[in-house]
Amino acid sequence: MNEDIKKILVSKEQIQKRVQELGKQLTKDYAGKKVVMVVLLKGAAHFATDLSEAMDIPVRMEFMVVSSYGNSTQTSGCMIIRLDIQDNIAGKDVLLVDDIIDSGMTFANIKKMLQAKHPASIKTVALCDKKARRTNGFNADYSGFQIPDEFVVGYGLDYAGEYRNLPYIGILKPSVYARA
Ligand code: IMP
Ligand code: MG
Repeated sequence: MNEDIKKILVSKEQIQKRVQELGKQLTKDYAGKKVVMVVLLKGAAHFATDLSEAMDIPVRMEFMVVSSYGNSTQTSGCMIIRLDIQDNIAGKDVLLVDDIIDSGMTFANIKKMLQAKHPASIKTVALCDKKARRTNGFNADYSGFQIPDEFVVGYGLDYAGEYRNLPYIGILKPSVYARA
């Protein structure tokens, strides 16, 4: 285990199993449709790739980069679009994908922006859901794991750009961010 990790919360095997389950569920719910995944980089890259492979329907991928966090572990609430989607999503079924839903600000803001482009539908999926931290009552349509109020990294999730390549989801030792 990486020395900066306090505890492994979700193992690689548990992630793989849950992603397959979500893929099956989405395949059923979107049967007969094509989906445009709007993937929030960089955190959701690992999850979205595996999830799209677990979906047995046509999936297109679009990417966005938004920033609100900086290198801190708390959301600032203000959001800057650094990379926007390239395709027209009007009339399309959109699935917005993120690594984690925390305060709910990211999903709420991006969903509103995408809605202005008139998709046929828009749903949200997050790998992790920290419900205890929600400030706006936003609920993801699908989520992989309910997790406690701890700062987690791995499988795409980062702290200051690091730890994304850990194959599990682990709680970061608070001493790591206390140093910053
Ligand atoms: P929200 O806007 O507060 O819901 O936060 C969502 C974003 O915050 C995610 O896209 C992550 O980048 C980041 N985030 C929130 N909690 C964590 C965490 O525990 N580890 C890593 N990133 C997190
Ligand atoms: Mg993020």
